[in-house]
Amino acid sequence: MIIEPRTRGFICLTSHPTGCEQNVLNQIEYVKSKGKIEGAKKVLVLGASTGFGLASRITSAFGSDAATIGVFFDKAPTEGRPGSPGYYNTAAFEKHAHKAGLYAKSINGDAFSNEIKQEVVNLIKEDLGQIDLVIYSLASPVRTHPNTGKRYKSVLKPIGEVFTNKTVDFHTGVVSEISINPAEGDDIENTVTVMGGEDWKMWIDALKAENLLAEGATTVAYSYIGPEVTKPVYRNGTIGAAKDHLEATAFEITDDLKSIGGKAYVSVNKALVTQASSAIPVIPLYISLLFKVMKDKEIHEGCIEQIQRLYSERLFGGDLALDEKGRIRVDDWEMYDDVQEEVAELWEKATTENLAEIGDLQGYSDEFFNLFGFKVPGVNYEADVNEVVKIPSEK
Ligand code: NAI
Ligand code: NA
Repeated sequence: MIIEPRTRGFICLTSHPTGCEQNVLNQIEYVKSKGKIEGAKKVLVLGASTGFGLASRITSAFGSDAATIGVFFDKAPTEGRPGSPGYYNTAAFEKHAHKAGLYAKSINGDAFSNEIKQEVVNLIKEDLGQIDLVIYSLASPVRTHPNTGKRYKSVLKPIGEVFTNKTVDFHTGVVSEISINPAEGDDIENTVTVMGGEDWKMWIDALKAENLLAEGATTVAYSYIGPEVTKPVYRNGTIGAAKDHLEATAFEITDDLKSIGGKAYVSVNKALVTQASSAIPVIPLYISLLFKVMKDKEIHEGCIEQIQRLYSERLFGGDLALDEKGRIRVDDWEMYDDVQEEVAELWEKATTENLAEIGDLQGYSDEFFNLFGFKVPGVNYEADVNEVVKIPSEK
């Protein structure tokens, strides 16, 4: 079939298998071009199919020849209905990992559930014995709690007062003012339950209880801080409360791992166009200005550049360069004073009329479509493709 992008609001309903495969290939090539990393050899990636999690899986496999198990929640394609991009990404990743002689198996299901944790436990026991690196990169708007069956929804709201600022609809380029009402009722608790550290700790507890973590095992979860302009809705908002909880959980997990000399870290990453970040108001305008400034300064990075640098320079580079709160920072270039000052100036000026010029609106839009395998250079979108691709390890 011929597959075209079909968008509704901030989501794209279709995705392209050839474009997704090309994205994965480009990331593999990038990692290979940077040389070998003396890193972990048996890696579990939770949230492995898109964004930072996929980049982590690719960096482990093609940077350190690691065996990888990837967990994610994606829609498989059926006749006439494309799957979700994470499904196609994983099919492509496994295909090329296997071709390179690397172990790669995947589990598609709800990582918050006891059942999927048990499946992963069984798979590690059967195939790998022990894991030395666990990457926690889940991003989800909902979580069904495994102990109670209660379904929690996260929200993106400021705390305490209404937040009003600029935003952009990156499909139309229209800059407008948006007001977001503050959290109410259980909004904060619910968001912490979905995106905080509880599930991360549950994963590590489950693995440790079965003796599936190797001596000195490391686990890393991803966080974000960002600039002043997004603070009310991001870091000081409901999602920021969840990130505070996630960051605090790293210390708890490190305590739990003392007996095996293990460590838990949070890495604060750069703002990037991913499915998760496109849904947060104000962030797309910030990202389009940030990209412009960082590209002009030739310090722009995407997911794969971020994670390759995290691995090669921090995690396995001998210098974690932790901040005052014990976090790894690969958002360091985003947070450079000159970058933030220039973005803040542009922010004041940005209007519908000038954004295409002063910001990287085109870059944002292209990267958004790239997430779904569209507008990827070198892909022939007129060609007939088989949408019913399968992930090789899927039963
Ligand atoms: P993403 O949306 O690209 O990836 C999320 C992954 O989680 C996908 O593999 C998806 O299949 C999986 N997933 C979602 N719900 C699941 C479930 N119930 N069970 C199993 N898998 C599930 O997200 P992205 O942007 O890569 O985010 C990953 C982490 O990085 C998040 O903690 C996010 O806050 C953080 N981060 C994101 C930044 C950004 O700008 N996108 C910046 C800095 C940190
Ligand atoms: Na991810």
